[in-house]
Amino acid sequence: MKLAVICDSKTGNTLKCAEWIAEGMNSVDGIEAKAFKIEEVDEDFVKESRGVVVGCPSYAALMTPDMRNWLMGAGKLGMAGKLGGAFATEQFTHGGAELVIQSIHTNMLVWGMLVYSGGGSKGMPVIHIGPVGVNGNVEAHNGLENYENYFRVFGQRFAEKAAELFTK
Ligand SMILES: Cc1cc2nc3c(=O)[nH]c(=O)nc-3n(C[C@H](O)[C@H](O)[C@H](O)COP(=O)(O)O)c2cc1C
Repeated sequence: MKLAVICDSKTGNTLKCAEWIAEGMNSVDGIEAKAFKIEEVDEDFVKESRGVVVGCPSYAALMTPDMRNWLMGAGKLGMAGKLGGAFATEQFTHGGAELVIQSIHTNMLVWGMLVYSGGGSKGMPVIHIGPVGVNGNVEAHNGLENYENYFRVFGQRFAEKAAELFTK
């Protein structure tokens, strides 16, 4: 089963998180996951994917204009009925990433996708609405690499749910 991870990323942080998610997905038997930037999406691969995860940096606590524009045109990729998930990166804790995730989820619901994060149902780490990576250096716990495991775990959980929904 194919799964796609699609992101906007100008300086590489969000793409790195997308790759971690795809790697987590690919740890599940029967999954072929690929990560793409919005400028380089393989549209045939996305159409064939049963699940699509979308990620974006926080820009002034909102998604980027480029991601918003991409989302507006993505309905043509046959999103209805696919499993959807979202993630975000930000420079600062409380920098708006969860607002970005929620707005991506809203687009997915409008398309008729099934939105999934795993939430608290899988125990630790509890990922709530979707994984967030914080790259600023002003707080001791920041640094994108500190968040790597959340993205890998999210990818694995998402793929397990897609396999449960679409292959059993
Ligand atoms: C124009 C602009 C606005 C930004 N606004 C925010 C913000 O509101 N909150 C925040 O925490 N980080 C903000 N950032 C930082 C980015 O969200 C952060 O560095 C992100 O990881 C960049 O992702 P990328 O490397 O994939 O492009 C902003 C960056 C830019 C360039």
